[in-house]
Amino acid sequence: MALTSEQIINAHRAIGVIDSGVGGLTVVREISRRLPRERIIYFGDTARMPYGPRTYEEVRRFTFEMIDFLRHQEIKMLVIACNSATAAGLPFYQDACEQPVLGVIDPGVRAALAKSRSGRIGVIGTVGTINSSEYEKALRRKNGKLHIVCKACPLFVLLVENNLVNTPEAKKVVQEYLDPLVREDIDSLILGCTHYPLMESLIQEVVGPSVSLINSAEEIAAEVEAILGSNSIANPLGSDKPCYRFFVSGSPESFEEVGAKLLKREIKAYQVKLT
Ligand code: DGL
Repeated sequence: MALTSEQIINAHRAIGVIDSGVGGLTVVREISRRLPRERIIYFGDTARMPYGPRTYEEVRRFTFEMIDFLRHQEIKMLVIACNSATAAGLPFYQDACEQPVLGVIDPGVRAALAKSRSGRIGVIGTVGTINSSEYEKALRRKNGKLHIVCKACPLFVLLVENNLVNTPEAKKVVQEYLDPLVREDIDSLILGCTHYPLMESLIQEVVGPSVSLINSAEEIAAEVEAILGSNSIANPLGSDKPCYRFFVSGSPESFEEVGAKLLKREIKAYQVKLT
């Protein structure tokens, strides 16, 4: 089937990815593994993170500011790589954008349902995500008989953003939050915040080997591939080292440090003032 000129132009455009901070880079890592030809433009609203304790209205407003910035960079699709922003209003972003917009909650739910054998599933996330009940509602829509235990873990994002994951204090915090979930005999735990895969080994150590951790990033990358395919906008010609651009609203140093460790390459982030 012949492509339209719009599809050809779009194919060479970047995928936009946004989060409140470094967490969305866990999604970038999976997209880059699965789709090595695609360009990515990332925005982390580090000056205003964490989003978790904020009102939904405020999170939507901040998210729209990032979206506006990325739309001026001519992206072909957008990944809201932030559960808190997804929970605060995915349908609003989808209505406002002409490009496909993907959130992170449904892919996480699909991954958990594929993995869980006992139907006893834990969900952890920010206060905003957990209070929205979006995970619980989405899980129940698929299976009304699940035993679901949800828990907000507000300190986790701060441990990650401040590079404190490998400290004895971090382990105590994780135990305090997660021991009650382990006692509920869950077999799978949804990491309902894109920052949490950055502390995956600590979480696994605390919950033990019998609990599978569900990181939705792989499922998200697979869905990005499907969306690019069905819209005929996958990049057919890119090189294996496509250009990635990173923007942050706060100071770039700690973002660059955490990002380089995660993506295993030097990254340069540019500071942009939003509003
Ligand atoms: N990484 C984000 C999420 O998935 C945001 C965390 C925050 O800023 O509180 O929810």
